[in-house]
Amino acid sequence: MSAAVPIGVLTVSDRAFRGVYQDQGGPGIEAALARILATPWRAVRRLVPDEQAEIEAALVALADSESCPLIVTTGGTGPAPRDVTPEATEAVCTRMLPGFGELMRAVSLRAVPTAILSRQTAGTRGASLIVNLPGKPSAIAECLDAVFPAIPYCIDLIGGPRLETDPAVCRAFRPKGA
Ligand code: MTE
Repeated sequence: MSAAVPIGVLTVSDRAFRGVYQDQGGPGIEAALARILATPWRAVRRLVPDEQAEIEAALVALADSESCPLIVTTGGTGPAPRDVTPEATEAVCTRMLPGFGELMRAVSLRAVPTAILSRQTAGTRGASLIVNLPGKPSAIAECLDAVFPAIPYCIDLIGGPRLETDPAVCRAFRPKGA
């Protein structure tokens, strides 16, 4: 049996980092992934403050050292001065995939008008796909469920492992023959 696929779960939050409150975003991502994925996986967790250099370092470590084919971040996507997760993501990615942010904002708009305040994006670094989610715990399942059907094929295309989903929860789309 092949080893569990490492998936990066990065919480970006000054307050969770300082212990002002407990991180809910990271566990929220893990709960969503546990629901969606049929392939054995394990979370590689990181918690950093809203500092661009620290976010970049965590993303690079998750991609290059931990070899995570998928890295999901939560927090730091808004317009406040300390929100820099999209900037850090762009800085470490070789290619941007703006469709992820477009779809997640469109879906989130059905829940909250402030969805347009999120600058969440996605991109690839080598064989890793990085996807930003907003910090609100309720946003995590809304956003991941919307984009996940495209994630396994994206990871195929960048040379990552084949990820299978539970079809009762999420039907991953692969073109015929893929
Ligand atoms: N998207 C969903 N699905 N649900 C939400 O509650 N909150 C919005 C937006 N996107 C929200 C959402 C708000 S209020 C903000 S400010 C932005 O995400 C950015 O949040 P962040 O800085 O925590 O990433």
